[in-house]
Amino acid sequence: MATNNDLQQRRQAAIPRGVANSLAVYAARATNAEIWDVEGRRYIDFAAGIAVLNTGHRHPRVVAAVQQQLTELTHTCFQVTPYESYVRLAERLNALAPGPTPKKTIFFSTGAEAVENALKIARYHTKRSAVIAFGGAFHGRTLATMTLTGKVQPYKAGFGPMLPDVFHVPYPVSYHGVTPEDSLAALDRLFKADVDPERVAAIIIEPVQGEGGFYAAPPEFLRTLRALCDRHGMLLIADEIQSGFARTGRVFAIEHAGVEPDLITVAKSLAGGLPLSGVIGKAAIMDSPPPGGLGGTYAGSPLACAAGLAVLDVIAEEKLCERANHVGNVLRTRLAALQQRFPAIGDVRGLGAMVAMELVKKRDPHQPDADLTKALVQAAAKRGLVILSCGVYANVIRFLAPLTISDALLAEGLDCLEAALNDLAGTAAAVA
Ligand SMILES: Cc1ncc(COP(=O)(O)O)c(C=O)c1O
Repeated sequence: MATNNDLQQRRQAAIPRGVANSLAVYAARATNAEIWDVEGRRYIDFAAGIAVLNTGHRHPRVVAAVQQQLTELTHTCFQVTPYESYVRLAERLNALAPGPTPKKTIFFSTGAEAVENALKIARYHTKRSAVIAFGGAFHGRTLATMTLTGKVQPYKAGFGPMLPDVFHVPYPVSYHGVTPEDSLAALDRLFKADVDPERVAAIIIEPVQGEGGFYAAPPEFLRTLRALCDRHGMLLIADEIQSGFARTGRVFAIEHAGVEPDLITVAKSLAGGLPLSGVIGKAAIMDSPPPGGLGGTYAGSPLACAAGLAVLDVIAEEKLCERANHVGNVLRTRLAALQQRFPAIGDVRGLGAMVAMELVKKRDPHQPDADLTKALVQAAAKRGLVILSCGVYANVIRFLAPLTISDALLAEGLDCLEAALNDLAGTAAAVA
């Protein structure tokens, strides 16, 4: 059987470096919150395929739904011969989306595709072209979404020119001294210096920034953005691709603010491991583009819709919103204790189970420690734990364990993390 080393060599010869791997560990199989590699070694999974597996690897309900669907129909293309599961999943998401306005939903395959289409819908509806996004945002790697993404390296540098009419303002991050007032003042300056608000189609925001570093926007800030959008006829787009589907203790993170967005982009944990994304929005806005203006050959595939319906059942039946709060509390409590021992842990934060710790030098928020973060990801893997980094300065470890993880496995994973921190203490990448 091929070893991790063999596969890594073949991978380097056959696959471009542009698609990076954080670990040279090749997965053979996985169940709930555990992965086994090709050499039979077990890992506890705190990455969940980047926030895709809130319901865990191969949840039995999801597997059964996909297996059943495989026996009936795998593809017709919804635009050619529609099928009920697409309609039913849209109905369920419309009912789950926050706010009283009637909703409609359209499906795609990837998160970037959902964001691209939200932008198209917003432009068509408002007949305006400009879009405002936030520094540190991540909205995808396609041409339009990389423009919206608020991080140059490695996402934008060399890939230009960018989409015109996209503007960025700072995301409020209290740990780095950016207050909501600073962000609102930047918007005000933007409207004075760069773009007439009457030309802005939409503001797009992650209610909790994902790749940018797991920073939650204060609820009051989101409510102010809602009012600002209403005042100027701009749409508010909530990108819930990473924060959605019970991760933060609510189905959608924006619910914490009591805000009804005009459009919501969803993907990742929506279908428990199958590629599915969507835009949920106010029906009158969603109906703006004409027939044929939206769609895609594989968009909302029958297998993915079957998985999505099973995921929504699991979230409700296993009370995953409540579970997220429990998992988040366990993580935050243990990380706060580690913070006492390891000064490199500058900040521990999170909403529900969307939890992160930020690694800095000398307890200074302005001295990010990217080298230590990189070393910790590798050290954790040696201890049998898969973790992910993120952050504009690549110095944040994010915790995205499946919400279905057992308490025992969660504790064991945190033991691995502590052991990895101990391993690094006193090395070049000093944590203590
Ligand atoms: C908030 C957010 N938006 C969009 C995307 C892009 O999704 P995808 O990688 O499926 O294109 C991501 C992916 O990490 C994301 O976290």
